[in-house]
Amino acid sequence: MRFAVLTGGGDCPGLNPAIRAVVRRAAKFGHETLGFLDGWKGVRDDLSRPLALVDVEEILNKGGTILGSSRTNPFSKEPEAAKVMEHLRAHGIDALVAIGGDDTLSAARELHRRGGKVVGVPKTMDNDVSGTDWTFGFHSATAVAVDALERLRDTAESHHRAIVLEVMGRHAGWVALATGLAGGADATLLPEERYDEDSLLQHVRSAVAARGYALVVASEGIDLGARKGTAGGKDDFGHELLREREVGAELARRIQAATGIETRSAQIGHIQRGGPPELFDRILATRLGAGAVDLALKGRFGEVAVLRGPVIEGIPFDAAVGAPKTVTPDWLDLMHTFDA
Ligand code: F6P
Repeated sequence: MRFAVLTGGGDCPGLNPAIRAVVRRAAKFGHETLGFLDGWKGVRDDLSRPLALVDVEEILNKGGTILGSSRTNPFSKEPEAAKVMEHLRAHGIDALVAIGGDDTLSAARELHRRGGKVVGVPKTMDNDVSGTDWTFGFHSATAVAVDALERLRDTAESHHRAIVLEVMGRHAGWVALATGLAGGADATLLPEERYDEDSLLQHVRSAVAARGYALVVASEGIDLGARKGTAGGKDDFGHELLREREVGAELARRIQAATGIETRSAQIGHIQRGGPPELFDRILATRLGAGAVDLALKGRFGEVAVLRGPVIEGIPFDAAVGAPKTVTPDWLDLMHTFDA
């Protein structure tokens, strides 16, 4: 068989181990692999490179993706969709492994609907793909955010300030949740909950009263009511790019204005997405990459390899894409236990 692999959407630690696993698992059974460059753009525009074993030898511990990535939706226009089918045929691809989040996997589902032989691997630092316990990238990225919060704690304490840390997470607040829990935030704001300024101010005031400083974690996707809009533009899938809204800076302004407590903010943005994958992400990416090849070898096209409890399973695209996996009430309840 001739395999192909692509990585689409926002990059995250673990993509390279997943690519390596696809190539190594396919090679184990005597199959070769082609890498499409820059996600679906590479399939549409016929940009590719062969992936030999030597090409993936040194990438297990490297962040980013050696194949490049983009947020291209190749099925938004019919002439482009036709090119995708044409290029897959021209390369004699028997099985395509699409590694990505909701958008990339939605495009894979569309390819499958059109008769393409494709399987999926979920990834995203946002941890918001349905049907899988975890996505790789999340642990590594959130460890960066926790490290940032710990550094902010030192300086907040020295200057008796409140500091707001803005983390990524457009539709789901998993990164903010885990950062707040693991880093000991006094208040954590997620897109899953309605913004409540009175309770935020109360948490900040009581933290400052108790020990002289306060730490707030905010997900970039929270809705502050004002300043809505598309200042950051939209991607190819029609999603608003939220970073430019700077909710962390806006929150800091509001806290300082309402309480008189000197307040600062930090937005760590793409720093969260770089760096080497942590242990958990390396192993998960390796298992999912190999698992996707196994699905293809069994002819189970149209499925995504996912982690469920201790095992890797295949589930239909429909069970993985369309509705993001958001933070559940039990997690919110636990999180608020630690509010100041
Ligand atoms: O991939 C998800 C994500 O990390 C979001 O949390 C964030 O809003 C977005 O990517 C940023 O994307 P870009 O790289 O296009 O700025």
